[in-house]
Amino acid sequence: MDILNELAKIKDENALTAFHKKYLSKTGELTAQLQNLKNLPADQRATEGNRINELKRNVEREFFRKQTALREQAINDQLRADPLVDITIPAINVPQGSLHPITYLIRRVTEICRSMGFLVVDGNEVVTEYENFDAVNVPADHPARDMQDTFWLTNGKLLKTQTSAMQNEILRKHGPVVSAIFPGRCYRNEATDASHEFAFFQCEGMMVGENISIANLIYVMKKILSGVYGKDIDVRLRPGYFPFVEPGFELDASCPFCEGKGCSVCKHSGWIEFCGCGMIHQNVLRQANVDPERYQGFAFGFGLTRMAMMQYAISDIRLLNSGNLEFLRGIKR
Ligand code: PHE
Repeated sequence: MDILNELAKIKDENALTAFHKKYLSKTGELTAQLQNLKNLPADQRATEGNRINELKRNVEREFFRKQTALREQAINDQLRADPLVDITIPAINVPQGSLHPITYLIRRVTEICRSMGFLVVDGNEVVTEYENFDAVNVPADHPARDMQDTFWLTNGKLLKTQTSAMQNEILRKHGPVVSAIFPGRCYRNEATDASHEFAFFQCEGMMVGENISIANLIYVMKKILSGVYGKDIDVRLRPGYFPFVEPGFELDASCPFCEGKGCSVCKHSGWIEFCGCGMIHQNVLRQANVDPERYQGFAFGFGLTRMAMMQYAISDIRLLNSGNLEFLRGIKR
């Protein structure tokens, strides 16, 4: 009790520091009393130990309370003494900001994937022709390399047209056994309108190892979709062509907005086309020095921008890059 009384009387930080040294520090009295327990007769040790520990806990709690109060007091004194700050003026109500829808979705998706053990990888926006095309089995005469589609830089590099451009680096660095998710901004040289933008976001994922199969792909896709939409989502695969996967698929998700009953988002079909995916082509593995006889894996890549547009019923893609605060404030989550 005396100790607590002593503490209650303290009025400045110096005295508080001295108090700490006297009682609570390594060389303090309470610590010494605890160390002294071993010298007591065995039948007194437990009761004495409990008593001292409880006292120490109480003193510590009060010490921290006092410390916070004194610090607050010091700040307030300083503010009051400052002739330039008038703390009596009523506070201005500053509206709280929120995350951009794309940022929010990136965080949601990566959080879900992280919980499944995926690495989250951030990649460059300027990449080499090799990374964007050759390494992912896109042949030299592929139309995607055309002047209209790709922003070529004068140094021979380009703005990545797809997050698949990161596959090679990730496989080389972390492979041959790796699960990674890599969202990123992509660029395509197209005319803009309400549904086309030259800069947009994709999110790619891959899992490579021994015995990875399409069943793993389906499971991961269901997990991601169900996590984002907060309900069970079904998926179905249709054959689809992408040079970097074999077999390749288009993956549809059961419409999260009408539960498959049919609505304007799913064009009354109950399904939405969600992404391209498939088993990684052997040439892609070989390009990253991964032995395709021993390892295999899946990859998928979906449009984060499209996901945001569906989720928040955004009718004009250009709004997402506009920095228009009125639009951003109107998005309700
Ligand atoms: N990169 C493809 C696209 O931009 C998507 C994709 C990624 C497809 C991975 C299959 C596997 O359309």
